[in-house]
Formats: sequence, structure tokens, C-alpha cells
Amino acid sequence: MPKATVLVQGASRGIGLEFVRALLKREKPTHVIATCRNIRMAERLTNLQKDHQPDDSLHRLDVIQLDVRHHDEFDNFSNSVETCLNDLKHDRGLDMLINCGHIYHPSNRVETNLNDVLGIDLNDVYQVNVVGPLLITKILMKYLKKGCSRFGNTSNGSYASIILNISAELASIKNNQVGGWYAYRLSKCALNMATKNLAIEFGDRSQGVSHLDKSDKPLLCVAMHPGIVNSEMIHAYKELLPNAHFETKENAVKKMLKTIDRLSLKDNGKYLDFDGNETNY
Ligand SMILES: NC(=O)c1ccc[n+]([C@@H]2O[C@H](COP(=O)([O-])OP(=O)(O)OC[C@H]3O[C@@H](n4cnc5c(N)ncnc54)[C@H](OP(=O)(O)O)[C@@H]3O)[C@@H](O)[C@H]2O)c1
Repeated sequence: MPKATVLVQGASRGIGLEFVRALLKREKPTHVIATCRNIRMAERLTNLQKDHQPDDSLHRLDVIQLDVRHHDEFDNFSNSVETCLNDLKHDRGLDMLINCGHIYHPSNRVETNLNDVLGIDLNDVYQVNVVGPLLITKILMKYLKKGCSRFGNTSNGSYASIILNISAELASIKNNQVGGWYAYRLSKCALNMATKNLAIEFGDRSQGVSHLDKSDKPLLCVAMHPGIVNSEMIHAYKELLPNAHFETKENAVKKMLKTIDRLSLKDNGKYLDFDGNETNY
């Protein structure tokens, strides 16, 4: 049976790493291409790779180094992805891209007020959380268009692949009650807008604005937030979120995968929570 193929961008730790772990455990044969910005530092990911050697007939994991700020390396990155897909010897497409890598703030202290806001920080966070994921989507588009909808559910029409941008509840303008987190909120808001744009540009032709060729299947583009999850980085912000429930990475990813399994074309361009409920933009 051809393997479902997924690329997880930002998988050295946290939710991205947990996505890789959980995807490799799926009953459905799944091939994972995981990216990390420094392979030598991504021991947990590379250890996982040792457990899933190429002779493992059910599951496989490839790891590719990618820092989403290094645009001059994107062509090499695309070639590496192509090599992985060629090795699979099936249709050479990607069935899903999960853009998960991010930073909250270069200093690891988010802004609590306007005085903390610096242009250089806004720019750094924007590069990692918006520019990188969007350009990676652009470079992978040729493979995403060749996907075979092996994730999600085709009950509302078939599509080639899913683009899942991991967003944050802090991106919601309507739900913003406490302010702060300037760079992070702004960047995730922009990522949501990019997701919506992609859904329009590559979505269902019946909407009348798709830019797809007649022979192309639509793509399913969704922004999804994981809730508040006990990843390493979030520990630094615990005092800023005194009443929050911290979900484990395992549960958060389990819920998101369950929601991914239910995604269909009617969800194109939506901003969803881990359980699939629509979030206010
Ligand atoms: N945890 C939460 O409560 C929460 C809440 C809402 C949304 N989210 C979203 O969920 C996603 C994962 O969050 P997390 O908590 O798992 O984060 P995390 O533990 O901080 O991990 C961040 C990941 O992004 C990677 N990364 C950072 N800069 C990068 C770059 N320039 N190029 C490529 N990769 C880079 C990191 O790689 P290195 O190991 O090399 O640094 C790491 O793998 C993010 O999109 C985040 O916004 C998380």
C-alpha cells in the first residue's frame, strides 16, 4: 500500500517532534519527512530515526536540516525532499505539510507592553513564523499538488494535499482580552491570513477565484491552534498565563490528528482549534 507522506517543519522538539512520533505510530503506513534547523542538536529526532530504519517496511523517517530564515538554502532543501520522495517510488507527492516551527520572541521574554517592542524583534519573529512557512509552502507546492489526499476526509470532494499551519489562540483579534505578546500575536495573525490566502488561491474551483490549472486538484489549507501545551518554551511564560490549562504534547497532538482525520474541503481557509471548532479570527 502506498505510504501517506507528510513533512513536519520544525520537528526537533515540542509539538513538532510529538507530531513525528505520533505519525510514525499510525496504523496507516506513513512516511515522515521531518525538518530541524540543526541536526546535531536534534538528538531526540535523530534517535527516533534510528528506530525507523529504511528496512522498516511500515514506517520511515527522513530528517532534513532546514532553518526557515536561510532562504538561500531552500533550493537544496527542495532537492532533498525530492530525493526522499523518489526513494518512496510512488507518486512523488506530499500528502500533508505541517508548518510547526516558530519562536515566541528572540529574547525568550515576550513583550508585556509597548515599551518592550523592538523593530528587530518584530522582524525576527515575522521571519520565522510567517515568511519562512509561506516560502517553504511555495517551494513545496509542486509536491503538494501531486499529493493523493491520504490525510483528512474526501467526503466533500477530493483534494491533493493538506497544508496545516500551526497557529495560536493568541492570534485571534476577537478573543484578545489581555494584550501583550506583540511580535507573536502579530506573526500568527499574519500566518492565519496567509493560510486563508492559500485556501483561496489553491482551493475549490467552485469558489470562482482559484488559480489552479484545470488538471490540478484543490489543496486544503487550514490554520489550527493546539491550545496551551506543555512544551519546553512555554514554561518561561507560565506566570503570564496564570489560569491556563496546560495540555500535554501527547494529548494535544492526539487531538489535532483526530481533527486532521476529519478535515474536508468545507474546512478550507478556516482557523480551527485542536478539536476542530472554528476560532474567531
Ligand atoms: N506550546 C504552546 O502552548 C503553543 C500554543 C499555541 C501555539 N503553539 C504553536 O505550536 C507550534 C509548536 O510550538 P511548541 O510549543 O512545540 O514550540 P517549541 O517547543 O518552542 O519548539 C519550536 C520549534 O521551532 C523550531 N524553530 C525555531 N526557529 C526555527 C527556525 N528559524 N527554523 C526552523 N525551525 C525553527 C525549533 O527548533 P530548535 O530546536 O532548533 O530551536 C523547535 O523545533 C508553534 O507554531 C507554536 O506557535 C504552541
